Amino acid sequence: MDLNPNETTMTDSLTIDPITLTDALPFIEYRNNHLHIDGVNAHDLASTYQTPLYVYSKNAILGQLNAYKSAFSAINHQICFAVKSCSNLAVLKLLAKHGAGFDIVSKGELARVLQVTDGKKVVYSGVGKTSDDIAFALQADIDCFNVEAMSELDLIDSVAKQLNKKARISIRVNPDVDAKTHPYISTGMRDNKFGIYNAIHAYQYAKSLTNLEIVGIDCHIGSQILEISPFKDALDKIIELIDELSKIGIKLHHIDLGGGLGVRYIDENPASIQDLADELMPKLKALGLTVYLEPGRNIVANAGVLLTKVDVLKPTEFKNFAVTDASMCELLRPALYQSVMAIIPATLTDAATQTWTLVGSVCESSDVLGDNRNLALSVGDLLAITGAGAYGFSMASNYNSRPRPAEILCDNGTHRTIRQRETLEDLWRGECA
Ligand code: LLP
Repeated sequence: MDLNPNETTMTDSLTIDPITLTDALPFIEYRNNHLHIDGVNAHDLASTYQTPLYVYSKNAILGQLNAYKSAFSAINHQICFAVKSCSNLAVLKLLAKHGAGFDIVSKGELARVLQVTDGKKVVYSGVGKTSDDIAFALQADIDCFNVEAMSELDLIDSVAKQLNKKARISIRVNPDVDAKTHPYISTGMRDNKFGIYNAIHAYQYAKSLTNLEIVGIDCHIGSQILEISPFKDALDKIIELIDELSKIGIKLHHIDLGGGLGVRYIDENPASIQDLADELMPKLKALGLTVYLEPGRNIVANAGVLLTKVDVLKPTEFKNFAVTDASMCELLRPALYQSVMAIIPATLTDAATQTWTLVGSVCESSDVLGDNRNLALSVGDLLAITGAGAYGFSMASNYNSRPRPAEILCDNGTHRTIRQRETLEDLWRGECA
């Protein structure tokens, strides 16, 4: 089975042309053969902050947010950035300042958002909300709970009653649509744990609960979706539900179509934000509801790179290994989803290439960042893994007791730390010997 149909999967050795790749990445480019991120030389960043290092382009992030805003400008809309994709406070603050709201899935994510803005544009998805989570969100006066189970309706209603509040809710519908993506990140089929399949029943029940106010309808069918057809299929199912709801006297304020639009990592050909808007717009306009979207990956993936250095070259009779100072701890996607992410040199050379498998130094054979890559490598070389802005740092761990890397935000030739590199002491903070 092709585990990961929407990302390039590896068979033979892979050659990536760094120029062609970066031509498709706004604000990541070679100047005089040296990689620059939003105008800052990658080598300068590595020597100032050391590696492994997450680096983001402020202008690339804003470019994507603005692309969403302009593509959907013909209708009332709200872009709710999926915090899980990149939860750094500076990134959240930047997005909030430019009008984004947030899709959260935990109390922790809400607490992060509240560090930089208020809860008014927050939608709260997630299958396991506890009464404590719900109380925290009600106190923050969030915009809407995306409800994923019948029992959650009772729980939100009772917590709201205790706090003497009314909770605004949407039902997250499980539309039973195949997003045609990796099974781990497909969420809209009826055997997935997400959403409610029998949504009408859930709305009828929600209507009977006095401390709930029904405001919307929601779905999120998966991630790294390249085609528009799954979004259209989901929208059609939701429109049918909206019609049925209106017949039983339930009127809505918004429709939330979730996130999920994919990006190019190597040579994938995702539909653009504009394609998505153009295809959905006629039906959305006819509905007359405010449209919410929850993009994560599409806003930040290609705005971020992970810089890493080659520590060891270990050619063997069977395979040539290049051990980098980044590993599955800093970037889990290749190990977890067999994702093929581009690894390009920070300096272009004419040196002859060889086939290398780039690995971290973690004690797991799955700790592979790039299998069979044709690259010219020497010890000490600086490399960039592109597409790392989404689900990169946010999925990083301290496994093998590795301090997590620093995060840097670049803006038109300037750079600043937005998260310090962890220290050794950070590794055991909170532990009691
Ligand atoms: N809304 C909800 C309710 C979600 O669960 C997600 C992602 C999003 C929005 C944002 O989806 P996006 O626009 O980023 O595709 N770690 C995986 C991706 C997991 C996505 C989980 N949900 C990866 O690295 O591929």
